[in-house]
Formats: sequence, structure tokens, C-alpha cells
Amino acid sequence: MAGSKIYYHFDEVAKHNDAEDCWVIVSGKVYDVSSYMAEHPGGRDVLLSATGKDATVEFENVGHSSSGRELMGKYCIGKIDSSTLPKGGGDFVKPQQAPKGGGADKASEFVMTILQFIVPMTILGFAFVVRHFFYFFTK
Ligand code: HEM
Repeated sequence: MAGSKIYYHFDEVAKHNDAEDCWVIVSGKVYDVSSYMAEHPGGRDVLLSATGKDATVEFENVGHSSSGRELMGKYCIGKIDSSTLPKGGGDFVKPQQAPKGGGADKASEFVMTILQFIVPMTILGFAFVVRHFFYFFTK
């Protein structure tokens, strides 16, 4: 990653969008994958379609292996100047954002809390009844 201290303008990176000259942005870093196109197990088209945008989500959705991620270092040429990325949603997505808890999540969390309380109480109640049952009949 010799050039990792270089910051690129988004417009500059977006220009490299063909089979001979292909740069992609993943997790804030810029990769020149031109020489890797033919070797890429996912194919060259997928790399081409990842140009001109932040391809972090697409990259992560594939579930690249750790060896695949290590290999990336070889092609890293720098970082993206995040202030130059398209605003208003565009194609840019911040890397690996944890999803915020939606309504459905909160409801299931509530059900889990109730269950965590009810299940031990039921077992305890059952044990109590059994104990009294034996106590009554062995008297
Ligand atoms: C420097 C950048 C990249 C490197 C070094 C790389 C490397 C690899 C490697 C080694 C694999 C084989 C599976 C694995 O070991 O993970 C793979 C598969 C794949 N990659 Fe990449 N990749 C890069 C960027 C991307 C990007 C930006 C995308 C797209 C959005 C992408 C999409 C895919 C797809 C679709 C597969 C095929 C998965 C499958 O068939 O199961 N890759 N890549």
C-alpha cells in the first residue's frame, strides 16, 4: 500500500471506469484493479459496475474471504477524499454502518425480555407445585 497517503478526488477516481483502466472505492480506499480484472474470480464486469461510486456495500455483500481482503492491499493506491463524494445519498454509502433499531426489532426485543422473565418463573412455579405435591402425599 505504498500510495495509501494519497487522497483522491472522487471525480478523478470516477474517470477510471473501463476494462483497461479501472479504479474502485471500497471502505474509503481507492484500488486500481486494472491489472486484476482478468484474474478477479467475480469477473471483470462486476468490477466495472463498481466504478464511479462507493462500492463498499457491494463488496461486503459478496462476503469476500480474508485472503481476498489481503489481496486488496496489493492494489490500493490511496484514499478517497470523502468531502468530494457525491452528496444526497448518491452512490456513496458509509462503510459498514450498523442498522439502526427499527420498530420490528424493538418489538421482538420486548418479546424476548418478557420470555426471559416468564420461562424461569414458570419453571420455578412448577418446581414449587411439585415440591408441595410430594410434601402433601409423603406426610
Ligand atoms: C481490490 C479489490 C478486490 C479484490 C482483491 C477482490 C478479490 C476477490 C476474490 C479473491 C474473490 C474470490 C472469493 C474470495 O476469496 O473472497 C472475489 C470474488 C468476487 N468478488 Fe471481488 N475483489 C475485489 C473487489 C470487488 C468489488 C469492488 C466487487 C463488487 C462489487 C467484487 C465482487 C465480487 C464477486 C461478485 C465475486 C464472486 C463471488 C462468488 O462467485 O461467490 N469484488 N473477489
